Order: sequence, then structure tokens, then C-alpha cells
Amino acid sequence: MENLGGLFNPSSPEMEAMAGLTYYTIALCLVILGIIVIAVAYIIIRYRKKPGDDGEPYQNFGNIKLEIVWTVIPIAMVAVLFLLTCSTMKEVDPPAGDRDPDLVIIGHQWWWEIRYPSSGVSTSNEIHIPAGEKMLVRLESIDVIHDFWVPELGRKIDLVPGHPNYIWLVAGKPGVYLGACAEFCGDQHANMRIRVVAEPEAEFKKWLDGQLAIPRTPTGGIAGEGANLFQTMACMNCHTIRGTAAAARVGPDLTHLADRDTIGAGVLTNTPENLAKWLANPQRYKQGAFMPNMKLSDSEVKSIVAYLEALDEQ
Ligand code: CUA
Repeated sequence: MENLGGLFNPSSPEMEAMAGLTYYTIALCLVILGIIVIAVAYIIIRYRKKPGDDGEPYQNFGNIKLEIVWTVIPIAMVAVLFLLTCSTMKEVDPPAGDRDPDLVIIGHQWWWEIRYPSSGVSTSNEIHIPAGEKMLVRLESIDVIHDFWVPELGRKIDLVPGHPNYIWLVAGKPGVYLGACAEFCGDQHANMRIRVVAEPEAEFKKWLDGQLAIPRTPTGGIAGEGANLFQTMACMNCHTIRGTAAAARVGPDLTHLADRDTIGAGVLTNTPENLAKWLANPQRYKQGAFMPNMKLSDSEVKSIVAYLEALDEQ
């Protein structure tokens, strides 16, 4: 029951506006339902067949006044809902191209690339934002249509290849807000999870600085072996680790992988044990993902885990 979803637990001004509109619409529908139920009940009782009745009751056709009343009232209600919807849309949707985005989210099969253009920070699947601040997000896709949805924070929005969309991302108070891809996008659509980590300003700054740090490449020991393996095997054809020659953007940036809570866009909790399991055979946990089974030996797995963990210990 922790996560009741957006309507019951709106956590941003945008989601509050949307929840308010939903409640208002439901309330209006309930009023209409009430009037109809009462009218039907009244008519059933008032005009039931009584002893001595014969033939049809009096039929009343073409009552202009009545026609006008039941045309005008629904039109007025629809007009009110239309205006409320417009004002909610204005609150929820940012004017596009207004200013540079604070965040760029790029959908991949099946993970999220998160970029902070002003600082150059790049991470994946976990979006850190300063609580209470309105972040303008540009959403893009590298392959197929995905859909970004964090129910407590706002609306869904598609990530369309070749057509960037914009959304506000705001969390009223610090916390972790969960979301997922909401548009079927292939085998692992279900494992395309989002974590929005909203932090007080100072903590967010600290996180950002941590992400900007370029780690030293370990040279000796098991972590050093892992670094060598990473540079000589196919890892670097897909991934980036800043401070090394690995600069590919096919898979997630691994510079600060150890800092993240999950592996594989939410399939595993990020612990050294799980990272080892993942490296040994990613297909076991995320079948169809583009990270292949590299057929690493146990000692190779251990070295690479030691390397990736060491990057965040400096
Ligand atoms: Cu991406 Cu469904």
C-alpha cells in the first residue's frame, strides 16, 4: 500500500492539478448519476400502472422548453470541464523551446539515459533532482517509442524518435518516486524502471559533484586487473567510463555505477554480489537485453566487479 499511485498521492504541483481535475470530473459525474437515479426512481413509482389504468399514459412530444433545458445543461457542463482541462494543461505542460532543458532523458531498449546538459553529468535509470525545483526535461528516443511515467509526479509522456517532447519534473518533497516505461517497446519493456531521487538542494549538489568527479583508474591488484579487462574486452565498445578510453554510448555510462541503487534498469539491487551475477550472465536476468553474455570466467567477473566498485571509492 506504500505506493497508491498518482491520484491518491500527488507529490508535485502538476500532479495535484491533474488529481484535482480528476476529482472534479468524478464529482460532477456523481451528481449527474444521483439526479438520474432519483429521477428514474421517482418515475418508476409515480407512473407505475395502477388498478383501473388502461392503455398508454399521456405522451408529451415536442416540448421546446424541455428540449432547450436538456441541451443547454450538458453543453454548459462540457464547457466547464473543457475550461478546467485547458487550465490544467497549461499548468502541467511546459511551453516547448522556452529555454534549455535542465535534463535530457533518452529512451533506449531497455533503459533510460539521463543527461544534465549544464554540467555534463550522465547517468542512467536513476534521476536525481533537487526537491521543490521545477526541472524542464527534454525526452528523446534512440530506437522505438517509449513512455516516461512516474505516477506521483505527473503525466505520462512519449519518447518519440526524431521528435523531442518536453515535460516538467518536480517533486514537492524529498523522496524516491518510482516509475516505469508505459509504452510497449519490446521484450524487456517491463524492466525499464525509473527511480526519481528528489533531494534537498545541498544533497543534490553533492551528488552532482560526485558524478562530475573523474575517478582514477586502479593500476594494481584485482581492481587493476578488472580495469585491464574492461579496456581489452568488448565492454568499452558500448560503455563509457570517464578518465579512460571507454567512451561509447550504446549502453549506460558506468563511471559511477556503484553509486546507483539498481542494475539493469531495476532488475537487480546494486550490490557487488548481484553485479557479479549480472556480469556472469545478463541474459539470465534480462532476456533479450543488448548486453550479451560475455562468457566471463569467475575470476574475470570478480576483477571487473572490483574495478567498477573501486571507481566510486576514491
Ligand atoms: Cu520502453 Cu516500454
